[in-house]
Amino acid sequence: MAQQNQIVMSGIRPTGFLHLGNYFGALRNYVRMQDEYTCYFMLADLHSLTTHPDTKELKGNIHRVLAEHVACGLDPDKVALYCQSHVYETSELYLYLNMMARVGELEKTVTFKDKVRQHPDNVNAGLLTYPVLQAADILLHRASLVPVGKDQEQHLEMSRTFANRFNHNYGDVFPEPHAFNYGGELVKVPSLDGKGKMSKSENQYATLYLSDSDQSIRDKVKKALTDGGPKEPNSPKPDYIENLFQLMQLVSEREVVEKFEQDYNGCTIRYGDMKKQLGEDMVNFIAPIREKAEAIRTDEKYLKEIMEKGAEKARQSARATIELVREAIGLNYY
Ligand code: TYM
Repeated sequence: MAQQNQIVMSGIRPTGFLHLGNYFGALRNYVRMQDEYTCYFMLADLHSLTTHPDTKELKGNIHRVLAEHVACGLDPDKVALYCQSHVYETSELYLYLNMMARVGELEKTVTFKDKVRQHPDNVNAGLLTYPVLQAADILLHRASLVPVGKDQEQHLEMSRTFANRFNHNYGDVFPEPHAFNYGGELVKVPSLDGKGKMSKSENQYATLYLSDSDQSIRDKVKKALTDGGPKEPNSPKPDYIENLFQLMQLVSEREVVEKFEQDYNGCTIRYGDMKKQLGEDMVNFIAPIREKAEAIRTDEKYLKEIMEKGAEKARQSARATIELVREAIGLNYY
């Protein structure tokens, strides 16, 4: 049962395989929040159309990502777990919020500039207004807590801007949404090659997916970049070594991390041993999620039930917000 009256909302794009970044940036918080708040968690299939217009793999991705949510510990009876495209009110709010967004600020969004670089042949208007659709997802439930990783910080700032502009123009309807992580700091799970973050579609060999086989996890960790070890006691760690320690902190026992920290500081560290340990701890962490997800993924009847139930809960909350929004804007003629 929810204990707090703040509303929680978040989403993940079904554009590929979920990875450790999605888990530690988002899903881990979802699972804890489901017992404390009213939660709306969504698969952002409409957002995925901005970069993946070919929908051949969409259904399979939706099924797998949904199964992975449940396998990570999300209970579809405690939360609304739904697909974005099943809640049509999202599109109506998106339209109103588009009137609150300035083209100049949308063009400056970091994710937009990245996408323009990656897909110069498909710079569509949906890509430009991506943060507006994300704001619509959040504000549709008048949510104020949004569990996300560090990469979503700017989108959350924009959601706040659009909410405040709406409230300023038409009266208080929306609370300010804020990015949330238990413990404060938003998470960025680094990739295994020390270059950037784990990602659904880039960096595949340096990303650990929740669906990776034991062997593939071991291989990826084994190939992670290391060097001959520190020459001076208590040396600063290069990025690619710091990454390994950060990953170890996520899945290994505290004493294990401390042992390798001591070895590092005393210049006795053997990276082969460290990677072996990290590989095994990763396997122990990921394998149960993978196995559970695999069993759920093929149960299409159960997945359909989850989606229907989730959409119904989400629509109820969405309808109530849309009524307030129309009333506030003055779209009430009878
Ligand atoms: P997406 O699908 O890229 O990522 C889903 C969630 O995983 C987090 N994440 C990470 N966290 C830490 N380290 C990483 N390496 C890492 N990679 C991904 C993301 O921060 C996110 O929390 N625009 C969103 C989807 C969305 C949404 C929303 C989110 C649509 N509507 C409404 C919140 C609220 C996205 O592309 O996430």
